[in-house]
Amino acid sequence: MSSSSPERILFIAGGTDGIGFSLLIEECKRCKYSKIYVLGRNFDRLKKQLLLNTRSVPDIVELSCDITQQDEIKTTLSRIKDESIHDFILTIGTFHRGNIADITHDDIVANHFHLNCISTINLIRSILTKLVKGQSQILVCTASVAVTARSPYGLQSCTKAALRSFIDTLRIELKGTTRVMNIMPPSVDTRIFSKADDHRNTDIYPPPLRVVVGMQYMLDCPFDICIPELLIEQHQFDEQQLPG
Ligand SMILES: NC(=O)c1ccc[n+]([C@@H]2O[C@H](COP(=O)([O-])OP(=O)(O)OC[C@H]3O[C@@H](n4cnc5c(N)ncnc54)[C@H](OP(=O)(O)O)[C@@H]3O)[C@@H](O)[C@H]2O)c1
Repeated sequence: MSSSSPERILFIAGGTDGIGFSLLIEECKRCKYSKIYVLGRNFDRLKKQLLLNTRSVPDIVELSCDITQQDEIKTTLSRIKDESIHDFILTIGTFHRGNIADITHDDIVANHFHLNCISTINLIRSILTKLVKGQSQILVCTASVAVTARSPYGLQSCTKAALRSFIDTLRIELKGTTRVMNIMPPSVDTRIFSKADDHRNTDIYPPPLRVVVGMQYMLDCPFDICIPELLIEQHQFDEQQLPG
């Protein structure tokens, strides 16, 4: 596989905000892909950055889909027709903070597990038939709590740990045809917290670009080796050190 092939097609599920959106911006700069499918619900940010409806390389295709609706996943993926995906990146997820005693049934089933586990697993298994055999990669963004549970993040920790186990199994099943990887970031400066009504100051966290650098490193590796997991810890953070 040549990592510089202009014919490669990327699919970013969650490319409309946060880490996925940051990856989209970076991939548009370096032109590794000829086409990028972006799956999400709200495309305002892409429109503001003029990433849609412009004749550009890569060609960006908007796939509006709520992945908690199984029928929407099926209809959405039918839009990519016979085209094959080389690299599938998943950055969809939600955040939950709270002591275990205070967690409600809806928090567990309707909200958190439904998106972070059931829907993401459904999307991943639905994309498998669309992948280029022998040359494809799947990279899922879970979280550092997948490895080390933290409180008051019991729900967040267990959904990420479950997804991590699923990814491990997928790696075994697809070995030799699709490289399956998992990146596990610490807290990053995105809107994921405020969307969950947690209005902490996120300015103290590294920007999503820090995670994107790790993702690109994993995706660009020679295809005969696989970095199965990348656990990121915040060691130091200095804005000046970020690539321009
Ligand atoms: N930010 C952090 O501190 C942090 C730390 C560790 C791990 N993570 C994990 O990294 C992943 C990305 O986090 P992030 O901070 O980038 O989150 P984010 O800024 O909230 O972005 C989440 C993305 O997922 C999409 N999404 C959410 N629900 C969806 C649904 N039902 N159907 C389709 N798309 C949906 C959003 O699309 P729309 O905006 O279009 O709805 C958005 O593109 C998550 O799994 C998160 O748990 C984040």
